[in-house]
Amino acid sequence: MSAPNKSYDPVEVEALKPEEVERARDAALAAVAAASDLAQLQEAKVAHTGDRSPLALANREIGALPPQAKAEAGKRVGAARGAVKKALEQRQVELEAERDARVLVEEAVDVTLPWDRAPRGARHPLTTLSERIEDLFVAMGYEVAEGPQVETEWYNFDALNILPDHPARTMQDTFFVRAQDGTADSGVVLRTHTSPVQIRTMLTRTPPIYVVCPGRVYRTDELDATHTPVFGQIEGLAIDKGLTMAHLKGTLDHFVQAMFGEGIVTRLRPSYFPFTEPSAELDLKCFVCRGASVGDPEHPCRTCRSEGWIEWGGCGMVNPRVLVACGIDPEVYSGFAFGVGLERALMFRHNVEDMRDMVEGDVRFTLPFGMEI
Ligand code: PHE
Repeated sequence: MSAPNKSYDPVEVEALKPEEVERARDAALAAVAAASDLAQLQEAKVAHTGDRSPLALANREIGALPPQAKAEAGKRVGAARGAVKKALEQRQVELEAERDARVLVEEAVDVTLPWDRAPRGARHPLTTLSERIEDLFVAMGYEVAEGPQVETEWYNFDALNILPDHPARTMQDTFFVRAQDGTADSGVVLRTHTSPVQIRTMLTRTPPIYVVCPGRVYRTDELDATHTPVFGQIEGLAIDKGLTMAHLKGTLDHFVQAMFGEGIVTRLRPSYFPFTEPSAELDLKCFVCRGASVGDPEHPCRTCRSEGWIEWGGCGMVNPRVLVACGIDPEVYSGFAFGVGLERALMFRHNVEDMRDMVEGDVRFTLPFGMEI
């Protein structure tokens, strides 16, 4: 590199000698060709076309030449600079295309890869079933009422007209809560049914009363395929003027049709519960065979065991003695009540054969029921 030519002697100016210009051009072209990515190309561009590059210096020298020498030197340097500029542009296009192709491959997203890596749970089908029943009754104007699972004997038995010598009072069925002094006589039990919520409701509200009471209940059964010591019930209670068994039957028919399909009616079989009079067992028409399997051994039905009906719960007209215990005048008001088991419903509604699956909390059991919210 030389200083500006003060002597106006073109021959003396090193930077403008044809072989110097050629060398600078070739070096630039070589650097451009050697650049293997855009950053290297940028470096080559600065080195060979920047202000301090040989070709830029040569270009500046032209201005100092005598007019007669300017044209030729200008042409030479201009051609060299043009060639380098063109090579730069070409290489830029090539390298950009290469980069784009690489980015497409390296940053490609495989939308078919599994995304659900953190497994999500599912709500328990007993919960969703209970909520579905609650919704159904709320739509008919009922309210949802709840009570404690640890209950006094008075609510669980006495107020429901279950006298002390009733079989349900024996140690066989009931979990008794031990008193603080260690005796079994605390007067407190794990509720054996949701019926004590009837009492709590009647004592705190004034008729008309329309409630459903979902919840867990306890009985001293061993856990096996058809028994569990803790299970779910849903209770219904209606107290109003002039309620009859026809209202009970109509309500239950609507209930089971909404749950199991049109035409699935109920059948009430005479029975006995101390807190209802009259009392009935509640059956529903088999929603699978609709009774067609009865007396047809060729086409047995697994759901109802070819009986045509499925047993589901108990019901009846609230016993006047219970109304009196709750301060409701049985001369003015009457009412009906029913209670059904949730596990049983899940068993026959979804062909769940083993109750243990319902209590073990294995997500593989709950997932197929879907993510109902
Ligand atoms: N509580 C009874 C049971 O658990 C069911 C029932 C409820 C019967 C309401 C009649 C009326 O067996």
